[in-house]
Amino acid sequence: MRIAVIGANGQLGLDVVAAFERRGDEVSALTHAEIELSSFDSVQSCLGASGADVVVNTAAMHHVEKCEAEPERAFAVNAMGARNLAMVTRQAGAALVHVSTDYVFDGSKGEPYVEDDAPLPLNVYGNSKLAGECFVRTLNPRHYVLRTSAIYGKHPCRAKGGLNFVELMLKLGRERGRVRVVDSEFVSPTPTVDIARQIVALSDGDGYGLYHATAEGSCSWHAFATEIFAAARMPVQVDIADPSEFPAKVPRPRYSVLENRRLKAAGVNVFQSWETGLAEYLGATAGALAG
Ligand SMILES: NC(=O)c1ccc[n+]([C@@H]2O[C@H](COP(=O)([O-])OP(=O)(O)OC[C@H]3O[C@@H](n4cnc5c(N)ncnc54)[C@H](OP(=O)(O)O)[C@@H]3O)[C@@H](O)[C@H]2O)c1
Repeated sequence: MRIAVIGANGQLGLDVVAAFERRGDEVSALTHAEIELSSFDSVQSCLGASGADVVVNTAAMHHVEKCEAEPERAFAVNAMGARNLAMVTRQAGAALVHVSTDYVFDGSKGEPYVEDDAPLPLNVYGNSKLAGECFVRTLNPRHYVLRTSAIYGKHPCRAKGGLNFVELMLKLGRERGRVRVVDSEFVSPTPTVDIARQIVALSDGDGYGLYHATAEGSCSWHAFATEIFAAARMPVQVDIADPSEFPAKVPRPRYSVLENRRLKAAGVNVFQSWETGLAEYLGATAGALAG
């Protein structure tokens, strides 16, 4: 198949490109230098005649504080950008895989969200991503919208910069022997390699629709940190931090755990437990990112 990946030098995009290349597909890896999502003309000229069978959009404006400070830009990229992609891919006869977020929910459910639950975003980022989902779902019937959560991979996140949570914990643990992490926010930490595998698996079929796509199970950030040090066999003390020690400038859901109900119903769920995903990540990256 011919695949176009947008955001191809991002944390997730690089793993998506590699996963399709491993399968032997012809991959066009598009970076921000080549395509500007918020411009219909850019999307059209880049993808209109590309001949791609599947377009995968991993790109977004997803720095939560920046989205809050620049809501028009956030909607231009995450909502209108998704609309541009949906219109162009539909016209070109391509399927569209679009990556979305657990932040479309407000976190008040207190148990894992399924695809049928009503979204209610708490911030500009979540609202702009939800609007993008709606455009994709209404404009290109051949869509896969994948909501994922707390992603980490061996390539750095371009929007947030610096180290991912796992690498940050390992660094702080090595330097200080003790870390403080909040115990009041719950997520499903999801490795980017598994999201990439899921995208490849879905693109093989025609089960279009909205999917929750995260690692199995959930944990607080404190439990995640504790497991990181256990798996890395590092004797680091993990203290529970009071949320006031890390005041959030923008409201975020405190519980954004997703259940992959539709992937499981379709028999195509590739995700493993978050603990297994973490162990595989640490095995694959041992030493490579540290230092
Ligand atoms: N990080 C998380 O925990 C998390 C959780 C749930 C969902 N997600 C979603 O996962 C996806 C991938 O995240 P990631 O961590 O891989 O992001 P990333 O490393 O920041 O990569 C995003 C990519 O998008 C490109 N991009 C940004 N604005 C663009 C625009 N207007 N037009 C074209 N390309 C643009 C960036 O290019 P430049 O850097 O050159 O601008 C970059 O290559 C996003 O859709 C995000 O909403 C993330």
